[in-house]
Amino acid sequence: MPAFKTLDDLTDIAGKRVLVRVDLNVPVSGGKVTDATRIERVAPTILELSKKGAKVILLAHFGRPKGEPVADMSLSLIVPAVNEVLGQKVLFAADCIGPDAAEAVDAMKNGDILLLENTRFHKGEEKNDATFTEELAKNGDIFVNDAFSAAHRAHASTEGLAHHLPAYAGRTMQEELEALEKGLGNPARPVVAIVGGAKVSTKIDLLQNLVKKVDALVIGGGMANTFVAANGINVGKSLCEHDLADTARASWRKRKPRAAPSCFRSTASLPANSRPVPTMRRWRSMPSRQMR
Ligand code: 3PG
Repeated sequence: MPAFKTLDDLTDIAGKRVLVRVDLNVPVSGGKVTDATRIERVAPTILELSKKGAKVILLAHFGRPKGEPVADMSLSLIVPAVNEVLGQKVLFAADCIGPDAAEAVDAMKNGDILLLENTRFHKGEEKNDATFTEELAKNGDIFVNDAFSAAHRAHASTEGLAHHLPAYAGRTMQEELEALEKGLGNPARPVVAIVGGAKVSTKIDLLQNLVKKVDALVIGGGMANTFVAANGINVGKSLCEHDLADTARASWRKRKPRAAPSCFRSTASLPANSRPVPTMRRWRSMPSRQMR
């Protein structure tokens, strides 16, 4: 049994105001969404709640506006793509708290879907501020978190709301948590984790936790450069958090003794004069004693 509640535990929700945190931080070019994958991922949760007659109120961030309204980070730009994926018209409110949000929520009928403006237009969001969280909570009876890809942030609309309203995992969150349990709870070994992304700084806690549980940790994407550079290799102008070199070196030293060394992405983007970095090929050819 999962240690969290899911939509299966939500019965009799017709007419209830359900605040659903989703990740709509999608790529946009020329005012158009160029990849709707994230919208598609949260669609099942939204449509399930809507079909059950809930008033579905979507909370999301878009970009990093630093607590101020920024026109080209308005979620209104995403509405047409959300309409298209859901096959249903989505309402929009020009603020996620205050009179704009309250009036839009009051006007909802059962089954309606309403998208509230970017939560990060308020400083309280990223600070997980209690007053801001209370303002968000005023518009809901229930909180559903389906934003797995934003769940590493303890923000008001992700972590904060779960303390104010009865909280449930959406279908995407449920799927991801179940997959994690399968991989890290009591998995069939050996277990290899492959982690990509641009920045180590936002994932260092995760990596330090992960490295204790897996047999090998493969680091890819831009953040591999930080580990490569910390090991004295020139990464040229590649994306790299040089200020994290000490942390990266310490994590490397503290890695689980039986774990294989972390492996890095292809050396293709590194300057020609760089020393070779460990790759999957070299790792595969290591004698087994080196991996213990
Ligand atoms: C993402 O795009 O990775 C998530 O939406 C989180 O966005 P953030 O890194 O700006 O918090």
